[in-house]
Amino acid sequence: LSEENQNIISAYEWLTKLYHHLLRYTKDGKDGYRYFKERGITDETIDEFQLGFAPNIKDFTATFLEKKGFHKQLLVKVGILTLQNDDTVTDRFRGRVIYPIRNHLGKTVAFGGRTITDQGPKYLNSSESDLFHKGKILFNFDLAKKHIRKKNEVILFEGQMDVISAYQADIKNVVATMGTALTEMQAKLLRRYVDKVIICYDADYAGIEATYKAAILLQSVGCQVKVARMKDGMDPDNFIQSSGADAFRTEVVEASDTFMSFYMNYLKKDYNLSLEGDRIQYIEIVLKELAKIESPIEREHYVKELSNEYDLMMDTLIDQIQTHRQKSSPPKDKREKDRYTNNGPKQYQ
Ligand code: UTP
Ligand code: MN
Ligand code: MN
Ligand code: MN
Ligand code: MN
Repeated sequence: LSEENQNIISAYEWLTKLYHHLLRYTKDGKDGYRYFKERGITDETIDEFQLGFAPNIKDFTATFLEKKGFHKQLLVKVGILTLQNDDTVTDRFRGRVIYPIRNHLGKTVAFGGRTITDQGPKYLNSSESDLFHKGKILFNFDLAKKHIRKKNEVILFEGQMDVISAYQADIKNVVATMGTALTEMQAKLLRRYVDKVIICYDADYAGIEATYKAAILLQSVGCQVKVARMKDGMDPDNFIQSSGADAFRTEVVEASDTFMSFYMNYLKKDYNLSLEGDRIQYIEIVLKELAKIESPIEREHYVKELSNEYDLMMDTLIDQIQTHRQKSSPPKDKREKDRYTNNGPKQYQ
């Protein structure tokens, strides 16, 4: 580790402890403490994740770290402080609750900071640095990895609060991408630990699109993918906090769909299925996809679904699939991978 990187880690170590202490035990942190309490987070969980609060005081952090001997420039560079036009610095995360972001070794290398007043962006993150690349890190991977390995299964979320609520509910094989698109590097990292990935993104437009992309990528690196489903507008944290851990386990995790079931639904978005013409096109597209499935049993399973849903004869559908299979195309993995892995991560700042 370079001297600079050691300094960065050390600054994050000091700040994590400070912000956590303020939140837990002082008046300066009580707004943050109250925020987590209102979201159903226990003291034990607050301690486990070292959640904190950055006081709403312009130069609190700057003063603290400068006293410890850290250089302003470095703190600006990693995004702990912000440089103002008049060359003074302010605390970037002031007034926000703090989620330390740890690398796979458990060292804090960045912060996520959430507003508690709905002002400004919902989450701010530290700047990318040699130690912190959003596309390489998965939130909570260090704590989750032994559970992931033991279960041979990981649940993939969008956000920190999803992970924290699940972890608190004793579902510990959980990590999050922190709102960006899953990268190939993250997919490969997970692949080293598991066969099975359950994607459990938010039940909204962005979440569904991200699910599709993540699923294609995960399959391309050899993971078996399942997709969890929740009512419109829900996210895993909402679900756990409102319906409880048991319901989450049985109604969401265990009830998760195969990728193909998810995909058959996903494809509907381009069609108006109350129109006959659209319906026929949709069924054609689905059959083309089903033709790519190698297992005849699996194919039959989905054909049955389709046949029931659209009141078509199984035989007709099977014939059509056979036609597609005969004019079969280049291996699907390669094609799909090329198509879908080039979209860079969604940018948040
Ligand atoms: P969401 O918008 O789903 O937020 O973004 P959330 O996780 O449900 O947050 P809460 O429950 O309102 O607190 C998912 C993730 O995307 C990242 C964060 O990591 C967030 O957890 N994000 C979101 C950002 O980095 N910046 C943003 O402005 C919003
Ligand atoms: Mn770099
Ligand atoms: Mn979301
Ligand atoms: Mn969410
Ligand atoms: Mn949420």
